[in-house]
Amino acid sequence: MEILNVQDLCKSYGKGEAKVDALKHVSFSLEKGEFAAVIGESGSGKTTLLNCIGALDTPTSGQILLDGQDLFSMKEEERTIFRRRSIGFIFQSFQLVSELNVEQNIIFPLLLDYRRPNQTDVEEILELLGLQDRRKHLPGQLSGGQQQRVAIGRALITRPRLILADEPTGNLDSRNSRDVIALLTSASRRYRQTILMITHNRNLTASVDRVFQVSDGILTDLGGTADEALS
Ligand SMILES: Nc1ncnc2c1ncn2[C@@H]1O[C@H](COP(=O)(O)OP(=O)(O)O)[C@@H](O)[C@H]1O
Ligand SMILES: [Mg+2]
Repeated sequence: MEILNVQDLCKSYGKGEAKVDALKHVSFSLEKGEFAAVIGESGSGKTTLLNCIGALDTPTSGQILLDGQDLFSMKEEERTIFRRRSIGFIFQSFQLVSELNVEQNIIFPLLLDYRRPNQTDVEEILELLGLQDRRKHLPGQLSGGQQQRVAIGRALITRPRLILADEPTGNLDSRNSRDVIALLTSASRRYRQTILMITHNRNLTASVDRVFQVSDGILTDLGGTADEALS
């Protein structure tokens, strides 16, 4: 079942001499449950791609269908609600609410949507994250790796159609980076969670289902894993 379909996506910034074509006719799709990575050099257009798919930025042209629904044919308010219910975000800088504890940060997206958290789901996620004994801790009392695990829990709690992760290991050491990738991999298997993750580290793509490369705004599907595709 197709979850994401991107058709002929273009994004340009600026005008005249200062114009930058950040995305050039990008087309691809993701099936439900796929864990896909996007690699590419700094400035190649990876974040622009994720921000357009997450409706945090507006494409210049092209179409993005999430579970068959056209993101940019919706009115802005409708799109905001759809994004809140359908997309989970994980950022390099964690972006937790510093005044809220682990458990409260995880359920935060449900509260924003006036939904009541199911305690069984919360417990299951805390267990998956290995954070049961840290549930009352504030972000400032956690390591970077633990904070990113909370952010993963916050992305999973709504069971979104799609999780978008922009360099989720960018602020972590290699051991915590591997843990975060392992966690995303098990979430994708356990919940058939579709994930699109940017990473500049090819070594972290070994367990993903598919790798895309962005180079100067052009997206190429490298298939199974980066290493396979290179050999
Ligand atoms: N808001 C913006 N205004 C102007 N140019 C931008 C903006 N965001 C990104 N760019 C440009 O678009 C290109 C792609 O950027 P980005 O998507 O952030 O790359 P990456 O995430 O791969 O490092 C770069 O040349 C960058 O300078
Ligand atoms: Mg980026």
